[in-house]
Amino acid sequence: MEFERLYSPAARRLKPSIIRALLSLVREGGVISLAGGTPDSNLFDLELYSEIAARVAREEGRSCLQYGETQGYLPLREQLCRYLEGRGLKVGPDRVLVTTGSQQAIDLLCRLFLGPGDSVAMEEPGYLGAINGFRNLGSAIVPLPLADEEGLHPAAVEAALDSRPGPAPKLLYLTPTFQNPTGRCLGPERRRALARLAARRGMLLVEDDPYAEISFDGPPPRPISADDPEGCCLYLGSFSKMSVPGLRLGWAAGPPEVIRAMTLAKESADICTSVLSQAVGAEFLRGGHLAASLPRLVSAYRSRRDTLHKALLRNLPRGSRLGRAGGGFFLWAELPAGLDTMDLFQSAVEAKVAYVPGAPFYPIEGSGRGAMRLSFCAVEEARLEEGARRLGELLERALTAGSRNPSSGVPA
Ligand SMILES: Cc1ncc(COP(=O)(O)O)c(C=O)c1O
Repeated sequence: MEFERLYSPAARRLKPSIIRALLSLVREGGVISLAGGTPDSNLFDLELYSEIAARVAREEGRSCLQYGETQGYLPLREQLCRYLEGRGLKVGPDRVLVTTGSQQAIDLLCRLFLGPGDSVAMEEPGYLGAINGFRNLGSAIVPLPLADEEGLHPAAVEAALDSRPGPAPKLLYLTPTFQNPTGRCLGPERRRALARLAARRGMLLVEDDPYAEISFDGPPPRPISADDPEGCCLYLGSFSKMSVPGLRLGWAAGPPEVIRAMTLAKESADICTSVLSQAVGAEFLRGGHLAASLPRLVSAYRSRRDTLHKALLRNLPRGSRLGRAGGGFFLWAELPAGLDTMDLFQSAVEAKVAYVPGAPFYPIEGSGRGAMRLSFCAVEEARLEEGARRLGELLERALTAGSRNPSSGVPA
């Protein structure tokens, strides 16, 4: 039986993630992968999570092995409010929704706000999981190019929005802190300006902030949502990078009516997020384990960032531009003209090194082919150096071949 003809228009738009497709090529032995974006599981504190999980099952099992409230397990929402207060964001538990990872929050927002004919504005380059979510629903994406190392420039955002005919985008989706894919961090004045801009234009500003705690040069920056007198910001957070992704815990905090609508949408998505996971997350926060474990995590990731950054500075071809990333998992490199990171991917795998080409992070097809995302999060330092060396060699070879035979472009 052929089922495709039965699919809805939205289902027909679904596409596999290009990153997953590329990563499947990378599993061959010996490839140093600077492509993955998941935390290093060697840094997970197995003792701690087993002890907390056993204890909450024993002591709170009657509630945490049961179905729970769709909005989230109250002890976790209370702990999240305490955590958010420390980041400058004052909300009560009624204004917090626990989600199954922050990816679910993005999906719920898509379902609530977007459909064919609607539009959403986001950074270019930006988070691929959001681009796919927005595209799947058939909504238009208004790309907002990152201006410099501090990310978006509010005046350029105004200009991009003004230059578009038709109604303003409904959502302004931003990852202002240690962005995926560039690692860039929006400056404080720009944060306030973008909150004002969203309020003036009647857009919901969605601040997706999973990397904030992986901050290499001091405490994480104050969220945009902490200075939101107009109440137009929705803050998304996640346990995935600051704790472990396997808990599948994220949250949304913001305007009560948006939280209510997201809760309704979540009810039909999964009834509730695993209460056992939520109880573990609540205990992780309550017991002070976040503060206790972050220094080790941050120091490991900082040291890898330093190693990869230095090695790339030594090895990337002259004329490349490399960001430094004050936190998060990724470095972003823009290569000299003539190098196409999509075409070069297969040769890179043959040279036993992998990266993610820049193009998938651009909502507009055809852009970003001269850039690449390089992650330092899950590779040992000696291998980071060797990965940068292999990459540099490959790019130099491609440049030389391209200049020997300019009409043929860069060989694949
Ligand atoms: C910017 C951004 N948002 C959201 C997510 C989804 O995270 P999770 O669903 O694990 O919380 C990711 C994952 O890498 C991400 O990079």
